[in-house]
Amino acid sequence: MARLTINGQSHNVDVEPDTPLLWVIREQVGLTGTKYGCGIAQCGACTVHINGEAVRSCSLPVSAAEGKQITTIEGLAAAGTVHKVQKAWVDNDVPQCGYCQSGMIMAVAALLKEKPKPTDADINEAITNICRCGTFQQVREAIHAAAASA
Ligand code: FES
Ligand code: FES
Repeated sequence: MARLTINGQSHNVDVEPDTPLLWVIREQVGLTGTKYGCGIAQCGACTVHINGEAVRSCSLPVSAAEGKQITTIEGLAAAGTVHKVQKAWVDNDVPQCGYCQSGMIMAVAALLKEKPKPTDADINEAITNICRCGTFQQVREAIHAAAASA
C-alpha cells in the first residue's frame, strides 16, 4: 500500500513498494498522459515532477515518491489555464506524433523554473529526452519562446 499525492490529490494504491511510479500513475491512478518509452531512464517519455524536479518515473520505486508532491502533465497547468511551456509548444508547432511530448514538456517546465532564461548549453545539458520524430529544433525554439514570454 502506498499513499501518494498526485496533482494535489491523495491516492491510496495497493502496490508493492518497488513498483515503478510510472505504472502506478498510469494503471492505478489512470493518468495516461505520462508515457512509457524505454523503461530504463534513457528516453524521458515518463518524466514527471517530484517536489518540482523532473524525474523519470519508470525508474523510481513508488515508495520513493510517498510524502512528496507528484505532478504529471495533467496537473502542470493551473485549473483553467495553459502553462507557458504548453502555449509555446502550440505556438511553435512542436509535436509531431506527440508520444514523447508530455515528458519533454515536463522536463522543460522544470528547467525553466530553475533557469528562467536557459542558454543552448543549458538546454543541451538538461533536456536529454529522446524524440523519435526529431522535433529537437522546434523544442529548442519553443523553450526560448517560453523563456521570453515569462
Ligand atoms: S520510459 Fe522512462 S526514461 Fe524512457
Ligand atoms: S513527437 Fe514523436 S516521438 Fe517526439
